[in-house]
Amino acid sequence: MSKIQIAIDGPASAGKSTVAKIIAKDLNFVYCDTGAMYRAVTFAGLQARVSLTDSAALIALLAQTPLSFQPSATGQKVFLGHQEVTEEIRSQAVNQEVSGVSALKEVREKLVELQQEIAASQNIVMDGRDIGTQVLPQAQVKIFLIASVAERAKRRYQENLSKGQAADLAEIAESIAKRDYLDSHRAVSPLKKAADAVEVDTTGLNIQEVVDTIKKIISSKVPDLQFL
Ligand code: DC
Repeated sequence: MSKIQIAIDGPASAGKSTVAKIIAKDLNFVYCDTGAMYRAVTFAGLQARVSLTDSAALIALLAQTPLSFQPSATGQKVFLGHQEVTEEIRSQAVNQEVSGVSALKEVREKLVELQQEIAASQNIVMDGRDIGTQVLPQAQVKIFLIASVAERAKRRYQENLSKGQAADLAEIAESIAKRDYLDSHRAVSPLKKAADAVEVDTTGLNIQEVVDTIKKIISSKVPDLQFL
């Protein structure tokens, strides 16, 4: 039987990874966070002190220390070679640079190839910006998750506080709006809803409500799928 692909795209902090993880678990599918892949390349570049506009050098780093994922009780661990970088790829330094790295054509081509390989052999829930449009254009289910900038900033602010990190709501809102702009205005694969994606606005919804909405969409597209 051909593999089932569920693509979840949308802007930064719309809740994609939280709901994608739950949906994958409830379907017993593999979850792939493609943003983590762009973040890992960015971190590798910062660590090796190569220019973050030098695609060839960044791709060479990936060849030296291949990117891999390992499922864990708390989510997904990210490795570069043998080095675990799960926490490091969420740092402020990476946040600031990742939009630039993800705008590099050759880096995108390399990561899209890896993402397509990952999806070829297993049922998958993949989240990102270009999954429905570029990576898995044949996906049986495509969701485009959105929420207002204010709502996304509020969620990120509360998440930071709950981790004991300092947070400034206005600063977070500004950084989200900036990343939206960069992600949707870049020349290569800009953030864009696929023509056949279903848009879900999560403003004012809690996680469970978003998960339930997406499960209904999945069931309408692939009626045979059973949730655990
Ligand atoms: O979802 P995130 O914030 O972890 O994504 C990090 C960056 O990577 C973000 O600036 C957009 C980019 N990205 C992308 O261009 N394509 C993807 N498929 C996933 C993420």
